Amino acid sequence: MSATFSIQPLGRFAGASQPVKRPKARQEPFPLTCIQEFACFSYDDNHEFHLDDSSLKYYYTPQLGADLSKGFDTFEKQDDTGDEHLDSLLKTIVAHEKETGKKIDATLVTWRGMMTKIMATPFDQLDGFIEENHKHKVASRANEGKGRQRRGPSLEVMQFWGYKFETLSTLPTIWSETSREFIENRDKEVVNNKAQYCSVVRTGIGKTVLCLGGEVDAIWDRKPETKGGPINWVELKTSAEIRNQGDKENFHRKLMKYWIQSFLLGVPKIMVGFRTRDGILVDVNEIETHKIPETVNSQPNPKWNADMCVNFAGVFLEWLTRTINDEGVWRIARRQQSPTIEVYKVEETGHGDILSDEFKDWRIKL
Ligand code: A3P
Ligand code: MG
Ligand code: MG
Repeated sequence: MSATFSIQPLGRFAGASQPVKRPKARQEPFPLTCIQEFACFSYDDNHEFHLDDSSLKYYYTPQLGADLSKGFDTFEKQDDTGDEHLDSLLKTIVAHEKETGKKIDATLVTWRGMMTKIMATPFDQLDGFIEENHKHKVASRANEGKGRQRRGPSLEVMQFWGYKFETLSTLPTIWSETSREFIENRDKEVVNNKAQYCSVVRTGIGKTVLCLGGEVDAIWDRKPETKGGPINWVELKTSAEIRNQGDKENFHRKLMKYWIQSFLLGVPKIMVGFRTRDGILVDVNEIETHKIPETVNSQPNPKWNADMCVNFAGVFLEWLTRTINDEGVWRIARRQQSPTIEVYKVEETGHGDILSDEFKDWRIKL
C-alpha cells in the first residue's frame, strides 16, 4: 500500500487560507475559531515527567551585553539521540480522558515539531522528514558558512546560545520582590535543557481536528484561572544581528519556522535576542506572531507565504486522512528536495513502537 502526494504546483495553495482555529479574542488575518490548551505536562531538571505546569517559566527582560557562551562548560544537556515517540503526549491524553470519561475528538495526534515540518514543506527545499537525525539537525543550522570552512564558535556552542538566552530571559516563578536576587544572578545559573513545559492543545487546520503537544518557552504574565481562553505565551529565539540586506533576507526566511511554530500552539509573542557573530547579546526585539505574514509579504521578494502554508497543510491532511484508511504502521516520508510526499504501509498490523502500552490498554477499556 502506498500513495503519493504532489507538492507542486504550489500555485494551487495560493489565496486566503482555509479556516484555522485561532484564539477567540485576538485579531487575526485568518477566520477565528478556537485553539485550546486542554492539558499540559512538565519535564523536570532530570527530564522526569510530571503531569503539571511545574516547569513553566516566566518571561523577564534579559540584560543586554551578556555573553551567551558563558556557562557552556557546565551545560546540563538533554541526550536527544533516543526517540521518545509520543509517550509523554499520550500519557497526558490518557490522564485527560480518564478525567473526562471520553475520548478526545482529534483525528490526528502529533508533536508540534512534526506539524511544523509539514506546514513548511512548500517552501522548505532542504528538510526531508525521514532522514532527519540529530547530526542533520545541527548541520542544517550551520548555514552561516555553508560550503566553506567554518570559522568562529562550534555548532555545539551556537546551539547552547539558544538555551542560555532562555535562562537569561526567564524566572522560575512569577515576579516578586524576592526575584531581584535571582535576576541579578541569572547569568550564573547552570543552563539545563532537560526541563521543559509542554502545552497540549486542540486545534484545527481546514477540516482536520488536531491534538498537538509542544514546548512553550515562557509566559508573559500568568496562566488564566479558567481553562480554554488564549494564554500569553512567549517564544524565545536567538538570531544573528542584522547588518545588511542579506542578513535581513535570511532573518525573514527564518521567520517562517518562527511563525509556524508559534501559530500552531497559539503563541502570540516571540522575543528575539539578537547576538553578534561571537554570541554577545546586543538587542531584544518583540515580534507579534500574527503580524509576521504581513511583514514578510510587504518585502520585495517574499520567500514564503503563510496562507500557502496553511492551505497546503489543510489539503495534505485531508488527503492523509483519506489515504491512511487501514490498520498497521504507515510511514510519511519526504526525501530532501523531493517534489512529493510518500505515504506507505510498513507493517500490516499493530502499532509499532508508536503507541505506548499504557495508551493501548486504556483505549481498549474506554
Ligand atoms: P534558538 O532557536 O534561539 O537558536 P526553540 O527555539 O524551539 O525553543 O529551541 C530552543 C533552542 O534549542 C534553540 O535556540 C537552539 O539552540 C536549540 N534547537 C532547536 N531546534 C534545533 C535544531 N533543529 N537543531 C539544533 N538546535 C536546535
Ligand atoms: Mg523552546
Ligand atoms: Mg525558543
